[in-house]
Amino acid sequence: MKKKLSLGLFGFGCVGQGLHRVLSETLGLQTEIRKICIRHPEKPRSLPLEYFTTDRELLLNDPDIDIIVELIDDADTAFEIVRDALKRGKAVVTANKRMVANRLDELRELQQRYGRPVLYEGAVCGSIPIIRNLEEYYDNDFINRIEGIVNGSTNYILTKVTEEGKSYATALAEAQANGFAESDPRLDVGGYDPSFKLSILLTHAFGLRVRPEKIVRVGIDRLTAADLDYARAEHLRIKLVAGAYRFGDEVIALVAPKYVAEGHALYAVRNEFNAVSVEGLFAEEQLFVGKGAGGNPTGSAVLSDISALRYDYRYEYRKSAISTGLSFTEDALLDVSISADPSVRLSPSEFSRFKGGYRTKTSNRLEGEVRLSTLRDLTQREDISIILAPGAVPRPAKIAEKHVELETA
Ligand code: HSE
Repeated sequence: MKKKLSLGLFGFGCVGQGLHRVLSETLGLQTEIRKICIRHPEKPRSLPLEYFTTDRELLLNDPDIDIIVELIDDADTAFEIVRDALKRGKAVVTANKRMVANRLDELRELQQRYGRPVLYEGAVCGSIPIIRNLEEYYDNDFINRIEGIVNGSTNYILTKVTEEGKSYATALAEAQANGFAESDPRLDVGGYDPSFKLSILLTHAFGLRVRPEKIVRVGIDRLTAADLDYARAEHLRIKLVAGAYRFGDEVIALVAPKYVAEGHALYAVRNEFNAVSVEGLFAEEQLFVGKGAGGNPTGSAVLSDISALRYDYRYEYRKSAISTGLSFTEDALLDVSISADPSVRLSPSEFSRFKGGYRTKTSNRLEGEVRLSTLRDLTQREDISIILAPGAVPRPAKIAEKHVELETA
């Protein structure tokens, strides 16, 4: 590739502007943004107008542009841009987690067909180089578990609400004003965004293709004041945790709020920080922490991908080739706490093992072990709040049930 890289940039929102800042301040990489394709030409911009166009073909057909950097919101249009860029022989960098999670099979096929790479470190955990590490550092290790906080907005909201006593609405408005939240923040608080990221991580950590809608997902939007009081009284914090866990040749994954106790790796991760704990068979546990949202942190991940294209870096998807025996399963059990307003009917029969519960003036709380498939059904109920118990790790039902049989024999 040329010494000075020519970029065609799609989108100039929070991340696009962050990328522009980091590109103009970095010393190591010579780049030129030739054009920026935007959707709203009427918006005031921080760069001269001649940079901007609304005509995507101008960028895609420019033979001098080496790399298309896709940083727009709309996943379907993003995919078309990436596809057309690859067809025209350009390398692509994107941070669009929804597009990557939903279209990964096509992206892999297109990369093979046109021989050009697509890199997307910025799609998962902002500044934490988790995909590159899974691809490179852990390429010959076997991942047992990957678990973390992969959404900055919800962690910011939970921190502000529980530690600073702010209201949920104020904390969410701040996450939006800081550019952490998605344009539709339901994607953050409903746990969709972490499920996109977990879907991508499942491919790079385990070689498994699991579509995001297959992952059981609980958001933070149903947490109640009683849950927060309970956490405070028990010296716990609530974190929205995305996790994938391997047992033998099966992998279980889910996104859900979880009570974490002091001393847990995720307890001290606050505000828009993300953290990913990776447990390899050989490397054992490692914790990656860094800012997971915001223009500069995500811009830094995009910068790193652009830089990697200088030496024609591409993902090998090695785990897909070497971990062929693994399969994804929902046949799992896990410990949860379910709470609701006292007027709501909550039945111990939802639990495969009911451990107990109590009722106060403001809430009704039941605790025990549930099947992951039951949890999926319970996520449809808007009148209950589900939080994983402290230290809860899902386990395959067949192993757990055998264990109980032996205990009772
Ligand atoms: N809305 C996302 C978050 C942005 O809050 O983590 C970064 O992917």
